[in-house]
Parts: sequence; C-alpha cells; structure tokens
Amino acid sequence: MSNLKDKKICVVGLGYVGLPLAIAFGQQTEINAFDIKQSRIEELKQGVDYNNDVSKEELKKAKINFSADPNIIKNSNFIIIAVPTPIDANRKPDIDLLIGASSIVGKQLNQGDIVVYESTVYPGCTERDCIPILAKESNLKYPGEFKVGYSPERINPGDTVNTLDKIVKVVSGCDQQTLDTIADVYSTIIKAGVHKASSIKVAEAAKIIENTQRDVNIALINELKIIFDRANINWQDVLKASNTKWNFLDFKPGLVGGHCIGVDPYYLANEAIRLGYNPRVILAGRTINDSMGVYEAKRLINYLADKEVAKDAKLLILGATFKPNISDIRNSKVQDIVNELKKEGYQVDIHEPHVKTDKLFGCNNIKDIANYDIIIKAVRHDAFKDIKFDYEIIYN
Ligand SMILES: NC(=O)c1ccc[n+]([C@@H]2O[C@H](COP(=O)([O-])OP(=O)(O)OC[C@H]3O[C@@H](n4cnc5c(N)ncnc54)[C@H](O)[C@@H]3O)[C@@H](O)[C@H]2O)c1
Repeated sequence: MSNLKDKKICVVGLGYVGLPLAIAFGQQTEINAFDIKQSRIEELKQGVDYNNDVSKEELKKAKINFSADPNIIKNSNFIIIAVPTPIDANRKPDIDLLIGASSIVGKQLNQGDIVVYESTVYPGCTERDCIPILAKESNLKYPGEFKVGYSPERINPGDTVNTLDKIVKVVSGCDQQTLDTIADVYSTIIKAGVHKASSIKVAEAAKIIENTQRDVNIALINELKIIFDRANINWQDVLKASNTKWNFLDFKPGLVGGHCIGVDPYYLANEAIRLGYNPRVILAGRTINDSMGVYEAKRLINYLADKEVAKDAKLLILGATFKPNISDIRNSKVQDIVNELKKEGYQVDIHEPHVKTDKLFGCNNIKDIANYDIIIKAVRHDAFKDIKFDYEIIYN
C-alpha cells in the first residue's frame, strides 16, 4: 500500500493489543515485531497465541518477523509501543514497563524514525516521561531528529463485532507532518477511519476518559443495585422500566476487573492529584467497583446459609476471567468471590475453559463438572450457555 511505502513497522509488546495490531499491519506489508519475553516470541513463531485472540491461520498469513532481539527495532522506522501500564500496590500508575520499552527503543532509534505509543497513560505521560528517555538513549534531538505520536488502543478483546478495523483510531503527532504520516499509516488497516487529535495530550486524555466514564457509570448502577438489594426491589425490573426513557443510559451492574476500566481511572486520578485537584467522583466510582466482588460474595454466602449448604459441600464456580469469552484473568473479581468463600470455610473448584492452567486463584481448574452440589455462574461465557446453575453472581 502506498501509505506504507518506505515504512518499516515494528510493534513492540505483543500482548492483547500489540499482536492484533501486528497481524493487521502484517497483512498489508512485511513488518517486524518485538517482545521482551522469549517464550512469547517462540509460541508466536510456532503459530500459537496463548491469549486465544488470534488464530493460527491469521498468524500464518501475516508477514511478521518475530524477535526477542531488540536489534530488530533498529531495522524499522515506524515503531509502535504497546506494553502494559498497570497500577502498583498503592493504586498508583506503574509505568516501569513503558519506561523500559522506551529505553530499549531509544537505544535502537535512527534519525527520522517515528515512535507511536499505544499504551494507555495519563495526559502528559508521553511528553513528560517517555520522550526524554527516547532522547537520552538515542542521543538524538527531539523533535528535530526523531518524531513521536500517540494513538490509544480501543479494542475490546473477545468482542467479535467491534474489531480493530471497525473502531475509529484516534491519532496524534508532535507536529502536523508527523500527524499526517501516522494517520496515513493507520488508515491502511482501519476501515472505520482515523480521528486526528489536536495534540498528544488530547489523544491521551481522550482514551483515559472513555474508560473513566464507563467506570463511573457502572459504579453508579452498582450503587443503585446495592440500594435495591437492601430494599428488596428487583433491580432488573427497575432498569427495564427506566430504560424506556429516551435519555436513560443503559448500564448494567457488574464486576469491573481487568487492566483497563479498573485501572485507567487511577491514572487520571493520580494526575489530577498531582495537579492539586482531588477527583472525588472518579475515586468514589473506583471504591464502589473495587468493593463489588466482596459485596457479591457476601450475598452468595447468605444464599448458601439460607439453603443450609454444608461447608464441606462441593462448590463449583463457572468462569474466572474478568469478562466473558476471553482468557484474561488479570484483576478478575472472581478472585474476591473465591477468597470470601474460602474464608467462610467452603471448598471451591473452578471450571474455566478459556484458561489452560490446572490451578486458578488457589483452586483446581477442573474439566469435568459432574457431581457438584452447587454450581455458581460467575462469568457469562458462551460456552456456559447450556450449563444449569444454582446461583448467578450479580444477575440473579
Ligand atoms: N487489553 C486490552 O483490552 C486493552 C485495550 C485497550 C488498551 N490497552 C492498553 O494497551 C497496553 C497494552 O496492554 P495489553 O493488554 O496488550 O498488555 P499484555 O500484558 O497483553 O501484553 C504486553 C506485552 O508486552 C510485553 N512487554 C513488556 N515489556 C516490554 C518491553 N520492554 N519490550 C517489549 N515488550 C514488552 C510483554 O511481554 C507482553 O507480551 C496497556 O497500556 C493497556 O492499558 C489494553
């Protein structure tokens, strides 16, 4: 494609975000792809994605040179960084991996290269924290000798409708020419088109508020559910009635886990606090959503007590991932459910077909679901559609 002429793309970080991106570009032109984890590179070279996000056929079809050797970055001129941006134990942004990736990329940078960050960050992070590392490690001057952009990733793993090519891509660049180049490059893979943001900070902020808005809205509905649970009012019936109004927002209560919605608002909150503002609504939303696992576990324990279920009964939890039809268990609130049940002295096994390990949250991840006394559905995987259960977390 003409927009990719003279471009040698390298995707750095091949996880839920980086791999689909590499596949999309690798269908257009030959690209490079680097991950720090040798085992990840080995599995991808063998045509296997243990995230279950990308098929063997897609991996085979794309022209991608996978490598765990940073030298592969040197032989590229359009570098996309998609490494994790988690929070630490104090719920503060932990950008060590982003700094690490910037340092690796900086060492390989050539004059004229463009670096685009895709990781979710607080507004200001790219310019304040990442670019100085690129400049230092490369000994190149910014913005004269290398260029930078930011293009947040908005994919929703497990979502087969809103796929990468169907989601408008917000792009930004350090100057107009860089912005236009970045927009042209992404246009080759994004059928939905690109939105040119007016600055890198605007693009960073746009992404972080999408997830913050979602988190706060879910928190409100979770709080309403808590109130209706106490009042013994069926919350599903309430929402059904309220949803008949044209401007009622259709959010459902739920367990907010994962590494995006449950994490990104802390990035924004932390930046707000740095600027001297206490973001009360954002943090209240986080507090409510972070507490929902324990809240729902307590309701489940009351149910078991009402049913006089013995402590040595065999309990099975269906699903452990943070949302349906994916294999990602990071920050899954199902862990809180398991912990609370164990604290009460219950024996629990898990059936999670999307995760291949034998143990999950200290429980056996079993395959044969026969012979359980109580089956608790925690995740609405399609694979569970025909399985009968006794109790469903939140949706009961
Ligand atoms: N997963 C999602 O649904 C999603 C959606 C939108 C945005 N995001 C954001 O995208 C970013 C990436 O998330 P993810 O879910 O793809 O993470 P991930 O954990 O799935 O994958 C990240 C990959 O980066 C690699 N890595 C870590 N440090 C590296 C380094 N220095 N050099 C090269 N590779 C390195 C890891 O080995 C891993 O394979 C995060 O900022 C996240 O918030 C994620």
